[in-house]
Amino acid sequence: MSVSFSDIYPLLLATMPLTGLLGSLKAADKPDIAPPVSAIVLQLPPLPYAQEALEPFISAKTMSFHYGKHHQGYVNNLNKLVFGTSFDGRPLEETIRKTVNVVDQAAVFNNAAQVWNHTFFWHSMKPGGGGQPTGRLLDMIVETFGTFDAFKNAFATAAVGQFGSGWVWLVQEDGMLKIVKTYIADTPIAHGQTALLTCDVWEHAYYLDYQNRRKDFVQAFLDRLANWEFAASQLK
Ligand code: FE2
Repeated sequence: MSVSFSDIYPLLLATMPLTGLLGSLKAADKPDIAPPVSAIVLQLPPLPYAQEALEPFISAKTMSFHYGKHHQGYVNNLNKLVFGTSFDGRPLEETIRKTVNVVDQAAVFNNAAQVWNHTFFWHSMKPGGGGQPTGRLLDMIVETFGTFDAFKNAFATAAVGQFGSGWVWLVQEDGMLKIVKTYIADTPIAHGQTALLTCDVWEHAYYLDYQNRRKDFVQAFLDRLANWEFAASQLK
């Protein structure tokens, strides 16, 4: 039986409010206007491994900024943006789907999607990752791309070719696998696609370790970090 992202990360999804990953913020982190006692706030999901666990391919310093500053920043921004609105206390995925392409909700969408995307990215990697999947996922990749190496080349080409900030994904849509690129905060779950694996290609993901060598970062992601067990668990 497959295990969904919501099983692995139950607080992120619809069973919990948007804030899904809820709990109490410390007083210093609360919005300027004190929320009522029942106010629900999103908390930064825990990393599935230690910050230094992906070294030498992603340094602890990169993780401390990427997770501790950037991911935390999206969480903080979203809490402020939704406070007192119809999105306050709603499931994160619902907020993402209701705000995609809604011009006056762009800030809510961008921050909500970035919270989701980053959590998915942390799970798309593991210490000692890389290699290749097995079973049904490998069969589907070979059927779609010809060989696993051909898939890796296509994924790397998409990642390197993403102009500016964004993401590259392996997704499932209508039973088929696809490699897709999303721009800035955009996310496959806003477009009816099932995310299987992602690599963050914003510069903040790799610049401290690789400077401008995005290709080397993406190769390390594929060869040494990709969590294929997690990707396989997302298949429908
Ligand atoms: Fe990022």
